[in-house]
Amino acid sequence: AASAGAQGLPAMKQKETYKVGFAQTESNNPWRIAQTESMKAEAAKRGWQLVYTDAAGSAAKQVADVDSMIAQGVDLIFLAPREEKPLVPAVMKAKRAGIPVILLDRTVDESVAKAGRDYVTFIGSDFVEEGRRAAQWLVKATNGNARIIQLEGTAGSSPANDRRKGFEEVIAKNPGMKIVASQSGDFVRDKGRQVTETLLQAHPDATAIYAHNDEMVIGAIAAVEAAGRTPGKDIRLVSIDGTRDALQAIIDGKLGATVECSPRFGPKAFDTALRYAKGEKIEPKIINEDQFFDASNAAAKIGEAF
Ligand code: AHR
Repeated sequence: AASAGAQGLPAMKQKETYKVGFAQTESNNPWRIAQTESMKAEAAKRGWQLVYTDAAGSAAKQVADVDSMIAQGVDLIFLAPREEKPLVPAVMKAKRAGIPVILLDRTVDESVAKAGRDYVTFIGSDFVEEGRRAAQWLVKATNGNARIIQLEGTAGSSPANDRRKGFEEVIAKNPGMKIVASQSGDFVRDKGRQVTETLLQAHPDATAIYAHNDEMVIGAIAAVEAAGRTPGKDIRLVSIDGTRDALQAIIDGKLGATVECSPRFGPKAFDTALRYAKGEKIEPKIINEDQFFDASNAAAKIGEAF
């Protein structure tokens, strides 16, 4: 477990109030917007100054954003690394500058940068488990028989790597389930639509779609309908996040299920920073508890969705 000074981790002084950075990945989907709102609301509630940056989908810009936070002398950086490898140098640079880093929702390459040594901790969902849960639902819904198109998230990001891993692990144990195509839609709705359009033409016998996030699955539903097929009947769909649009698609019978990935990090992130400043030992991973939404609870839960 990490505490200030352990294995060279920078300390964080105890103060009345703090100036912290939040380096966001992009703001092009409801999940990111909800995460940013949660962080800003928590900073305001505690009276902490928040230096907020939006990397607009560029790992290079996110590295520069962290640089600028270091130059501004923030007390701690919350980083949601867009991709696993390109953000490692940013974590190391902050450490050298004496600024502790907490990774939010995505990780960096764990074979190089280690929790408790290079950054304080990772707070987020278990992405491998999310992939497993999506696959388990699909196996059940299709009686173990499906020809699946997989829409992957941003190449090189931890959710794309891990959601694929967990899903494929379960699918491999079911001989009637076959992934016929797998391509990135970059976690973006319109790319999900375009990729699905192309893959449905190449694989007209596909019977299921697994998308690494809800935005891509909403795009995929549009592509399925444009191809003259009925989502939820001809093609079963499953995804991850738990957005309002996804829950509505479940209620409409188009989407089968979505595994929740909570974007509401604010309270836990700021609590963890404070515990660190007090010198408490911080566990290397703090994993969020996530729900599961399908036809049995989507109507009851849509009021809480983002
Ligand atoms: O890292 C979490 C993923 O990033 C969410 O599933 C997705 O919607 C977001 O862009």
